Amino acid sequence: MVRGQDRLLSREAQAWDSARICNGELYLEGKPYRSWAHDPVVTEWNNANLTGDPERSWLDLLGETLGDRRHGISLGAGTGWLEEEILRRKLADRIVCLDLFRGSSDAVGLEFRVADLNVVLLPPELFDFVLVHHSLHHVERVEHVIHQAEQCLRPGGLLILHDYVGENREMWTSRKLARLEAIRNDLDLPRGLGAPPMEIPPEVTSRRSPFEQVNSMRILPTLAQLFRPIRFRSWGGILHPLRRHIWDQDFRRRRCSLQQLLEWDELAVREGLLPCFAFGVFSRCIDETPLPQQGDWAELQRVVSLTEEAEREPAAWRRRWRVWGRFLVWKLARSLQV
Ligand SMILES: C[S@@+](CC[C@H](N)C(=O)[O-])C[C@H]1O[C@@H](n2cnc3c(N)ncnc32)[C@H](O)[C@@H]1O
Repeated sequence: MVRGQDRLLSREAQAWDSARICNGELYLEGKPYRSWAHDPVVTEWNNANLTGDPERSWLDLLGETLGDRRHGISLGAGTGWLEEEILRRKLADRIVCLDLFRGSSDAVGLEFRVADLNVVLLPPELFDFVLVHHSLHHVERVEHVIHQAEQCLRPGGLLILHDYVGENREMWTSRKLARLEAIRNDLDLPRGLGAPPMEIPPEVTSRRSPFEQVNSMRILPTLAQLFRPIRFRSWGGILHPLRRHIWDQDFRRRRCSLQQLLEWDELAVREGLLPCFAFGVFSRCIDETPLPQQGDWAELQRVVSLTEEAEREPAAWRRRWRVWGRFLVWKLARSLQV
C-alpha cells in the first residue's frame, strides 16, 4: 500500500520536475504549455479582479503586502521559477522551497528541500510568509499542511495563496454542469458525439500527475478556520471547465465572445457556482491584526459555504460510469471522425 503511494508520489515529482521556463514561457515535458489563463484578455481581466488595476498583477501587489517580511517558505515550489522572480524583484531575501524534488534554480537566497507535504513537520514560528502557488490542490492531507503553515509563521506572518480550489478531480457539481451545457448551447459550441465531454474521467486526467485536484475542496474551509483574509478573490468557475471547448484551433474565430465569457464567469460565481481558483492574503486568526475588510471576509465565508454545499453532493464515483461512457464514445467518434 505504502509502496503504491511512493510510486504515485514519484510519478507526481517526475511530472513537475520537467517544467522549465524559457523566455518567459512555461514548458512541460519539453512542450510549450499555454492555457486559457495566458490569453492577454484574461490576464488583464484577472489583474483587475486581483489588484484593481488591469496593468498590475498579483505579484506587483505582493511588494506592498509583504512589507518587511523577508524570510519565506514556499510549499510545493516546483522548479522555483516564481520564488526566483520574487527574489529578483527584491520582495524577499530568503525563501525555503519545499517539493518532492529539488528545484533547478541556483539563485542566491533560494534553499531547496525535498519533502512530502502530506507528512512534513515545519519548525514553529520561523517564517515571515508562506507561499502556496498551485500546489495545495496536489496534496491529500490538506488540513495537515495548512496547520503546519499556520504554526510555522511568526506573529504577523502571512500566507499567500494562489491555487485551484474547485471541485475535486474536476467532477463538476450538477448545477455547474447544467450551466455549462446552457453556455454550450448559447455559444453554439460543437455538440454531439465528436465534441469533447464536460468531464474527463479522473483516472485519465490524473495519469500524468496522480494527485491532481485530489482534495482541493478542503483548502478554503480549512484556511477559513485558521486564518482570516486580508484580501480574497475567486474566479474561473465557468472558464476553467470550458477550456477544452473554447481554447481550440477555432478559438481565434470565436475570440469576440471571450469578454462575454469573462462576464458570465463572474456572474456564475456571484450566483453561487463554485469558483475554480482563488487568490488570498491571509493572516493567522490568533494574531492581533486589524479586522479584515468586511467584503473579503464575507466573500471567503460565502465561497466556503458554497464549497461545503458542493462537498455534500452525492459522491462523484456514482457518476463515474457515465463520465467514462461519454469519454469513450468521444474518443471513438474522434478516431472515426464522426
Ligand atoms: C502545479 S505544480 C506548481 C509548482 C510551482 N508552485 C509553480 O507554480 O510552478 C504542483 C507542485 O506541487 C508539488 N507537489 C505535489 N504533491 C506534493 C507533495 N505531496 N509534497 C510536496 N510537493 C508536492 C509538485 O511536485 C509540483 O511541483
